[in-house]
Amino acid sequence: MTLTVNPLQEEFAATINGADLTNPLGDADLRVIQAALDRYAVLVFRGPNLTEEQQLGFARNFGALETSGILGDRKLRVHEKLADVSNLDQNDDVVGPTDRRRMNMLGNQLWHTDSSFKATPAKYSALHAHAVPPEGGETQFADMRAAYDALDDKIKAKVDDLIAEHSLFTSRAKIGFTDFTDEERARFPVARQQLVRVHPASGRKSLYLAAHASHIIGWPLPDGMMLLLDLMDHATEREFLYTHEWSPGDLVIWDNRCTMHRGRPFDETWKRDMRRATVVDDGPTVAQEAA
Ligand code: OGA
Ligand code: MN
Repeated sequence: MTLTVNPLQEEFAATINGADLTNPLGDADLRVIQAALDRYAVLVFRGPNLTEEQQLGFARNFGALETSGILGDRKLRVHEKLADVSNLDQNDDVVGPTDRRRMNMLGNQLWHTDSSFKATPAKYSALHAHAVPPEGGETQFADMRAAYDALDDKIKAKVDDLIAEHSLFTSRAKIGFTDFTDEERARFPVARQQLVRVHPASGRKSLYLAAHASHIIGWPLPDGMMLLLDLMDHATEREFLYTHEWSPGDLVIWDNRCTMHRGRPFDETWKRDMRRATVVDDGPTVAQEAA
């Protein structure tokens, strides 16, 4: 089988055809996929229909995995190394409208990059669809390299060396969800992240923003919050976006260092069963100081 890379947009998002993800990838295929990931940042594999072990095996090609559970109060429906991004409970039934898990999961519909609220955030996420609603429930991606490139030089100079504070509770508070236990709060202290990152493989700069980001270190709160709001608006303009419409069995892997993503609403009487394998980044983007 010959593996081909088919760009979905000029330099952002590509479909990989001809890859067999149900078996360990050979070095040659892996090199092509890694190069495509470095260039296009979001890669779509149509319908590989993987088992959890196959999904984990695929993700492990790109580094060590993160354990990403946030809420500490329920039995796992999926493999402990996968994040359960579904609207289902442990019996595979759709959760109720006021379920805590659903409330927390709604935060995924805000633009974000995975685990930016951790000192060492996520490098890659590989999301696999097991069941999807007939319409809605897309995942949108924003190209933060293109968004950076499109800034004017004065703004680039202003933002290049800034550091933002990120917290899981910042994004959840934005949608009015504050129902966390003390234990959960203690588990996720704030983290500091560079506002502009350089992608090690491509050398391209990108904005590193997210709903988790609250303000700029060393700036008055309103100035930092305003700057972040402005940059979020800019980075999510239509020209920087790719929208993935899921079919069951699809796998999409993205580079969290240079993209943002968000889930889109859907009719929640349908099951949406998505499971995510997450590869940890190489380390913190900046030294963490006590807040
Ligand atoms: C994720 C995520 C959005 C979606 O898996 O990290 O944000 O569309 N998913 O499910
Ligand atoms: Mn996410």
